[in-house]
Amino acid sequence: MTDAIRNIVILTGAGISAESGIDTFRGAGGLWENHRVEDVATPEAFARDPSLVLRFYDQRRAAIQEKLPNAAHVALARLEAEWTGSLLIVTQNVDDLHERAGAGRVLHMHGEHLSAWCTSCDIRSRWRAPLLGRPPCPACGARSLRPDIVWFGEMPYRMGEIYAALREADLFVSIGTSGAVYPAAGFVRDARELGKRTLELNLEPSQGSFLFHESRLGPASELVPAWVGEMLGG
Ligand code: APR
Repeated sequence: MTDAIRNIVILTGAGISAESGIDTFRGAGGLWENHRVEDVATPEAFARDPSLVLRFYDQRRAAIQEKLPNAAHVALARLEAEWTGSLLIVTQNVDDLHERAGAGRVLHMHGEHLSAWCTSCDIRSRWRAPLLGRPPCPACGARSLRPDIVWFGEMPYRMGEIYAALREADLFVSIGTSGAVYPAAGFVRDARELGKRTLELNLEPSQGSFLFHESRLGPASELVPAWVGEMLGG
């Protein structure tokens, strides 16, 4: 499988962080089940009840800082370090577990918990503390910071880069995502139309499993290290 492959695009979703103790969105007891989506993850919710939204994301920002990368994150970081072609990790996740496992080129298409976005000066700042007390923007001082999370109805980040990478890719791999939310759920179809090889590593069949040349089922902490081992020649 690896002979004709030089450029790889990997899409990750909540499933790759599940074994690190971070809730997935649609699994049993998933994140959204505890909170109605429209209550927290939309610009309208933020306008209507900023404290609820800030408290919700403050809780999640604090929670991820207590979690650790798992073997799947570590394996992807190893692949990135040792792979001689190009490799881009596009993640829907807003945790920093890929980076803490050592990955250097991670594209967070849905934003990041550890970033705050000033709605006054538009500057994004690395951020670990709560936002509920409306702290001043490090760049302009305005008390206008919001979570740097792409909410429903907002455009995911750096889509041009993602599609450019898909065009250059020889292989598209999807790990730990349900294929329920676009545009990420459409990447496999884009890859197929571009004639790319496609592989899915997931705990259970996703909504797009039928579109993948190969779909392996199991926990990411087992499937990803095994696949990375294959790619690096054992
Ligand atoms: N190993 C591999 N896959 C797993 C594991 C695991 N240990 N645990 C769960 N999964 C799989 C589930 O089978 C499911 O297909 O991960 C997927 C998680 O799906 P979702 O909860 O829908 O998360 P995700 O696909 O990342 O959601 C996409 O939806 O709510 C929005 O913006 C949010 O980025 C999120 C987007």
